[in-house]
Amino acid sequence: MSLYRARPQDGIAWITGASTGIGRQLALDLAAEGYTVAATARDEERLATLSQDAAGRKGRIVPFPADVTESAAMAATVEAIERELGPIVLAVFNAGTYYPVRGTEPKAERYVRTYQINVFGVVFGLVPVVERMKSRGRGQVAITGSVTAYGGLPTASAYGASKAALTNMAASLKFDLDLINVRIQIINPGFVETPLTEKNEFPMPALMPVDKASRRIVQGLTSGGFEITFPRRLSWALKAVNMLPYWLYFPIMAKVTGWDRRRRG
Ligand SMILES: NC(=O)c1ccc[n+]([C@@H]2O[C@H](COP(=O)([O-])OP(=O)(O)OC[C@H]3O[C@@H](n4cnc5c(N)ncnc54)[C@H](OP(=O)(O)O)[C@@H]3O)[C@@H](O)[C@H]2O)c1
Repeated sequence: MSLYRARPQDGIAWITGASTGIGRQLALDLAAEGYTVAATARDEERLATLSQDAAGRKGRIVPFPADVTESAAMAATVEAIERELGPIVLAVFNAGTYYPVRGTEPKAERYVRTYQINVFGVVFGLVPVVERMKSRGRGQVAITGSVTAYGGLPTASAYGASKAALTNMAASLKFDLDLINVRIQIINPGFVETPLTEKNEFPMPALMPVDKASRRIVQGLTSGGFEITFPRRLSWALKAVNMLPYWLYFPIMAKVTGWDRRRRG
């Protein structure tokens, strides 16, 4: 029997990090598919506007504001969504943040904050959701990682490491979640135009508009493969370079990122 794939008629889609960027667009697109979408982020005003912006779509968006770093709040959010709307059949753990860290000036608080949001912010939602999906015998879960998970990159020692943790977490969970008919997927985007990338001062190769990125995610959620990654030319190039021995990897990546032109000192 093939693993469960969520459908709007089966229940609710829950998205974290839905107030801006990829999560916002994905909430709108899933509502267009007919889902009732529970939308979580901290910014209540933005979530209220999002809910209004979904008017006219087949489904609707209902705000459930919460901070993903608070374990009790996430458990309470899952409880509230299911009580008010119905069973969560699709959960997309998308909330995330990016703090650049220079290896020459590492700052512990940037690692802590990154892990609180990007890693524990997923765990705190995933645990109560999987518990409920297990009791119902079906569900679909997707976690937003990043292509930075594939290997070390300049300034990404906090962000990339947190996303690598998510990839490993999802792949490790897959063995057991398959046994309880819960499909788990990892979404690894390249660069997407959102508030998160607005602050980047470097050229971003193959930068993708957010509506296109969201379409690719919807397609991937529907087709159900373990990894949803785009744009392919960037993610496959990164996958290929990460298969090289490190003595080749570092000079290539230093050249590609311009880090080879930085001075020692
Ligand atoms: N843009 C890219 O190029 C790119 C590439 C690869 C992966 N990603 C990943 O895609 C996901 C979405 O990123 P984005 O580019 O759309 O960024 P974004 O526009 O900055 O969105 C981040 C979302 O996460 C929410 N969030 C942050 N901290 C939170 C917290 N403590 N509790 C609840 N919600 C929180 C934010 O809402 P509030 O501030 O309202 O809480 C916002 O809705 C992230 O996981 C990111 O790492 C992005």
